[in-house]
Amino acid sequence: MTKDISKIDLPILIQGGMGVSISSWKLARKVARRGHMGVVSGTAIERVMALRLQEGDEDGQIRRAFDAFPNRELANRIYKRWHNPDGLAEPGQYKGLTMYGVNPPQHFLELTVIAAFTEVWLAKEEKAGPIGINLLEKIQAPTLPVLYGALLAGVDYVLMGAGIPREIPGHMDQLCQHQSCSLRLNVDDGSTESIPFDPNVIGLNLPPLARPQFLAIISSHVLAMALARSGGVDGFIVEGHMAGGHNAPPRGWSSDSNDEPVYGPRDNPDLERVRKLGKPFWLAGAQNHSEALKEAQAAGAVGIQVDTAFAFCSDSGMDKNLRKRALSAALNGTTRTITEARGSPTGFPFKTLDLEDTEGGRPAEERKRQVCIHGCLRSAYRKEDGSIGWRCASELESTFLTKGGEEGELTDRRCVCNGLLATAGHPHAMKEGGVELPLITSGAYLDFERFLNEKDDYDADAVIDLLGIPYGPMAVA
Ligand SMILES: Cc1cc2nc3c(=O)[nH]c(=O)nc-3n(C[C@H](O)[C@H](O)[C@H](O)COP(=O)(O)O)c2cc1C
Repeated sequence: MTKDISKIDLPILIQGGMGVSISSWKLARKVARRGHMGVVSGTAIERVMALRLQEGDEDGQIRRAFDAFPNRELANRIYKRWHNPDGLAEPGQYKGLTMYGVNPPQHFLELTVIAAFTEVWLAKEEKAGPIGINLLEKIQAPTLPVLYGALLAGVDYVLMGAGIPREIPGHMDQLCQHQSCSLRLNVDDGSTESIPFDPNVIGLNLPPLARPQFLAIISSHVLAMALARSGGVDGFIVEGHMAGGHNAPPRGWSSDSNDEPVYGPRDNPDLERVRKLGKPFWLAGAQNHSEALKEAQAAGAVGIQVDTAFAFCSDSGMDKNLRKRALSAALNGTTRTITEARGSPTGFPFKTLDLEDTEGGRPAEERKRQVCIHGCLRSAYRKEDGSIGWRCASELESTFLTKGGEEGELTDRRCVCNGLLATAGHPHAMKEGGVELPLITSGAYLDFERFLNEKDDYDADAVIDLLGIPYGPMAVA
């Protein structure tokens, strides 16, 4: 059963989810302190936590969250497994980490659950506003354990895009009752497979958990209508093509094209039709000016979701030096955001910053494919013996082709996972020496001078102040 969301307070400002780890617990907590909604990223959260622990957990924040986990024995075991009190011996020298498949090992499921719990628990401390977790429908294998960990920490909202998250509301209901469930995995040949998850493996004996609200991130009113019909969706984030991260392709676009996708008026969702669905919705994508809230509300929205402005502020989870370099280049006008047609192995347009000395700054012909070490964007394919294998169009060409991948898929792809983890401050060492280059994703606008409240810098409060948004949460009538 979902709550009647019209009867509860809704946030008017959402700091949206930014993977990997850009919308970390620190940023989400800072926004929630102002009474608005902070959203942590659930993408690759198990990897982020294992890497942070190997870096030493110097400020002991992860330890504190682990101590609050309802199964202390599990928390101590996982902490011990990954924590390195001395930090990394050399930059990027992390221990190897399993990749997600259909039946991951028990210790990996445990790590995932406690990682999501930790991120949400830390974000929720001192909160005044709600905390959400963002997940991508496209990344299916870790979804159920991530959700369960977030639910155990009392997450208030689950926000999901990059696909059609029809099944998730039902699974949230099951997980709140600690019931086992199975997510349908999409296989490249059009068939499906089940990814089971049994919350009992976490060894808890708890009463039912509170069911958070579920917001679907959509770019078309048609998808909003389909999701509203399938039930369990409490509201929508309507995301335009100016937004950072992956974008829905423009109408009539061919994913074989190398050209930067061009969007026109026909790509804008019909807000009136979204409004008529009777569910609350928020507008996302370049909602970064002082009139944005007023305009969004005039169109029937409850409020706005903002990200790029938060991504480059001093509370963001982006690597500190990289963030300063990117911010300064943006302020000097020496970098811009490109909507890449073919960079991401997902086949969706992906917005990157063409900043020097980052993966996004390389011309297409110098893009780097990598030995896949994180595997978050791999897709499932059916092997000849009927079992499931995993491949990524950005992994080494020979590996992809051996797995039956099509040659045409390879053109201009680049490794996104390694780059995004490097951007969050966790670059891996490369065989040939040095560490992975970061890859920054960003929304289209980079006019950050408006936010500066310190010399050449700004924090999350400055963004909220400039947007002119009063203290939240605000009730809707
Ligand atoms: C650095 C960055 C990372 C993002 N990562 C994700 C993500 O992991 N999942 C997602 O649903 N959206 C992601 N987005 C999109 C945002 O959640 C949001 O909807 C959008 O960026 C809002 O528009 P704005 O950036 O113009 O403010 C990302 C955006 C940025 C800037």
